[in-house]
Amino acid sequence: MKNFDLSVNIAGVTWKNPVTTASGTFSGQYTTGFYDPSLLGAVTTKGVAPLPWEGNPTPRIAETYGGMLNSVGLENKGVDDYITGELRALKDLGATVICNVCGHSVDEYLEVVSKLDGTDVDMLELNISCPNISCGGIGFGTDANLAAELVREVRKLTRKPLIVKLTPNVTDISAIARSVEEAGADAISLINTLLGMRIDLRTGQPVLANGTGGLSGPAVKPVAVRMVYQVSRAVSLPVIGMGGIMTGADALEFLLAGARAVAVGTAALINPVAPIDILSELTELLHDEQTLELLRRNYEH
Ligand SMILES: Cc1cc2nc3c(=O)[nH]c(=O)nc-3n(C[C@H](O)[C@H](O)[C@H](O)COP(=O)(O)O)c2cc1C
Repeated sequence: MKNFDLSVNIAGVTWKNPVTTASGTFSGQYTTGFYDPSLLGAVTTKGVAPLPWEGNPTPRIAETYGGMLNSVGLENKGVDDYITGELRALKDLGATVICNVCGHSVDEYLEVVSKLDGTDVDMLELNISCPNISCGGIGFGTDANLAAELVREVRKLTRKPLIVKLTPNVTDISAIARSVEEAGADAISLINTLLGMRIDLRTGQPVLANGTGGLSGPAVKPVAVRMVYQVSRAVSLPVIGMGGIMTGADALEFLLAGARAVAVGTAALINPVAPIDILSELTELLHDEQTLELLRRNYEH
């Protein structure tokens, strides 16, 4: 295979290729035992809050056809531990690191961002789309005004490239995308999980202790592709597409829909090396002149 430049520019940061990990499905501590994180365009880490969060009660994972439901609820050790632990270790390995930021309120998001601003993290991803926490998260992502207000406040605090991660649990995702673009976002990622539920046939109660959870995996892919297509035409920001990517062909479908880069999530919970496998399959597909021509035409549009 000839040497091939796969690099992409996302909000001023050069990724060596267009593949990252989806937040919550990659761990600096565990995944790096399986592959070198600097091989990917970037790695996106789990949401971090100002202080440690325990997450939701168990059971918080359920299988579904073509995917899974989770209600983990953003369990994390807090931003201070992240900065001295996972971030340091990943930067020392030469990875480009995107930190997913969460909070229950504007002040909580700002506290995390102000601490990260003084570090060498490469990009921030504002998670305004988690369906599994009682306040904050998705509450910001389903209201165009609240989403814009949060982005404006964060923008005042940092010049770090700011990705805003959108929820699919809305009627008009383009409207939310446009409002965060106007408020100062540098890139958009989507989709987070779709709100879902399963009922236990023996008890008649929800399977997940939290009641509802977020659906991810191949079952959500057509919804994700549709939303990436809409958002990439509604804004001029680079879009990072995700939702059910299991193969290089799936990743290519997102690029053709308008994404500049892709993230691999649930696939990595089945096979930890999935992001690397998908990158090599995608690389092979991109060696086809006809495919490249289709992509070129899409970028011009
Ligand atoms: C177990 C689990 C934990 C997740 N945690 C986060 C998180 O902390 N922050 C976030 O923005 N998204 C989180 N997500 C959503 C994923 O990053 C991704 O947006 C979603 O799962 C769709 O991609 P996929 O179908 O490839 O998994 C999580 C998903 C799963 C399955």
